[in-house]
Amino acid sequence: MSVNKVMVIGAGQMGSGIAQVFAQAGFEVKLNDIADESLNKGYARIEKLLSRNVEKERMIEQEKENALKQISTTTKLEDANDCDLVIEAVVENMDVKTKVFKQLDDITPKHAILATNTSSLPITDIAAVTERPSQVIGMHFMNPVPVMKLVEIIRAIQTSDETYQLIEETTKKLNKNPVEVNDYPGFVSNRVLMPMINEAIYTVYEGVAEPEAIDEVMKLGMNHPMGPLQLADFIGLDTCLYIMEILHEGFGDSKYRPCPLLRKYVSAGWLGKKSGRGFYVYE
Ligand code: NAI
Repeated sequence: MSVNKVMVIGAGQMGSGIAQVFAQAGFEVKLNDIADESLNKGYARIEKLLSRNVEKERMIEQEKENALKQISTTTKLEDANDCDLVIEAVVENMDVKTKVFKQLDDITPKHAILATNTSSLPITDIAAVTERPSQVIGMHFMNPVPVMKLVEIIRAIQTSDETYQLIEETTKKLNKNPVEVNDYPGFVSNRVLMPMINEAIYTVYEGVAEPEAIDEVMKLGMNHPMGPLQLADFIGLDTCLYIMEILHEGFGDSKYRPCPLLRKYVSAGWLGKKSGRGFYVYE
């Protein structure tokens, strides 16, 4: 089997990026969302990014047109009835995701693979609500999708080798690098990243150093392109807290306890760049 037709569900920040990279690689893509407005916004975002690539001479006009021609938009999930692969990128909510997967299980052809872009929910639990758990897998793209090379491919305990191999092959066709990971809280990316961010916040909390100093140490000393506190502000402190809670609950290990200062910032509505204030102030 090979993948030709793809549906991406959720036309938000991630879904529009995923649709774009599939279209650029020549796949036929249906972009789905429950809201017309989100669909229009998502499509406009793709057009804008492709146009910017043309302006910067990273691609020619014809390549942009070719990519756009590959994408159609729909609010009907039923349009997944001829797709070989569906990638779900709706809001990070287990009830919403499992509802979508149950519907997809009825709608899509028997051979279709159902993937989720979740960054924190258990793939094994999502697979378990379908009648085809061996064909369910995590495809965790990084933000911004058109730029970042990594796709963390997460195998649920039920995922078959055939499913994994096909998704690995498909990821390479997107000119991305697949990395194989098993389904445990935080996978690898957030399990390693978030405790580092949380520790940086503890370092502020305990008065060891100012945020600027901590970021400077990590940038200049460890060659990180961005310090952990600036990165936390970009990700959103509410998202950081939520993922620490998933790690803490999932492993029951106190080493994952969220820093009280992180909780306090989130309670204050200091969520980082998106709210204008986090560890730094954004005008
Ligand atoms: P977003 O809020 O930008 O987009 C979500 C979209 O899903 C919205 O357009 C919404 O209208 C749509 N939607 C909601 N329920 C739906 C349904 N039942 N059917 C169809 N569409 C529906 O969210 P974002 O940031 O794109 O995140 C999507 C997923 O990707 C989440 O699971 C998130 O955890 C994951 N993720 C996010 C990353 C990020 O940096 N934002 C990074 C990696 C993964």
